[in-house]
Amino acid sequence: MSDISYFEGNFVPTEQANISVKNHSFLYGTSLFEGIRGYWLPEKGCASIFRMKEHYERILANSRIFFMTPEASLDQLMDLTSELVRQNAHQQDFYIRFTLYKSGISIGPFLDKVKTDFTIWTHPLGDYVNTKDGLHVTISAWRRVDDNAIPPCAKAGGAYMNTAIMITDAKRQGFDEVIALTQEGNVSEGSAMNIFLVRKGKLVTPPITENILEGVTRDSIITLARNELGLEVEERTIDRTELYRCEEAFFTGTAAQVAPITRIDHRSVGDGSIGKITQAIQNLYFDVVKGKHPKYMDWCTLVDLKTPSLK
Ligand SMILES: Cc1ncc(COP(=O)(O)O)c(C=O)c1O
Repeated sequence: MSDISYFEGNFVPTEQANISVKNHSFLYGTSLFEGIRGYWLPEKGCASIFRMKEHYERILANSRIFFMTPEASLDQLMDLTSELVRQNAHQQDFYIRFTLYKSGISIGPFLDKVKTDFTIWTHPLGDYVNTKDGLHVTISAWRRVDDNAIPPCAKAGGAYMNTAIMITDAKRQGFDEVIALTQEGNVSEGSAMNIFLVRKGKLVTPPITENILEGVTRDSIITLARNELGLEVEERTIDRTELYRCEEAFFTGTAAQVAPITRIDHRSVGDGSIGKITQAIQNLYFDVVKGKHPKYMDWCTLVDLKTPSLK
């Protein structure tokens, strides 16, 4: 059965949501996107969209870099998304992809005179990476794109060629995931996820100046670690060798959720098992996203599948 996508102003069956081969974003990678997670809450009989507002705030801010601001407000984008979720009615966890793109037909990679459009689709999604057993990851021979080249703070479609080449090489070498370093050789992030280490009982993660995406999940984890687990969190430059010397390590991301890392380049992280702090953070995160933590219910947009979200 076909599902529905929101495409250039209308809800349509997904097979009708198509762009031309002459589309600017296809030719030049001129798109920005957000990946947002939805969770099915069986006991409440509704879907929950996690931190939708923060995802749209991020893309709206980034759209200004690329002259790509959509003709829709934050509230309109959230209402359209909730309505799409209602129409597709996934009774399982799912993923929402919002793509903002240069839809004009024009030759030349200019940004400011080409029309911007957007599309939204949803798809069922369980684990994106293994969140249960611990990942074996490698440090990429490729470097992360720089803020002065293609800003990684924006989820720019074209920049994902950088991600694609790193994760493809890592997988072909038999690893589960990859860690990118900056041009200076400091730890940046994973392929589509931020990274945290535990060092002397503290959480450490690269600051936003290390060519990372300012992850919504990263922000959630920093908040939860400080407020609920009483952990100290440091945002600071991380040397490559700290990856080999840390007690625990994990990735965070909308798709990855909280994914423990237990080996890096054939060296065990700590004693090689999932660390206690990582496990506590993962448990807490899953409770929060699944609407089981009353204090964080304002991070969850509940969608009643029977009530239309658009007035
Ligand atoms: C490059 C990159 N870093 C980090 C993340 C994690 O960000 P978030 O937690 O907002 O999904 C993602 C995924 O969206 C990503 O693509």
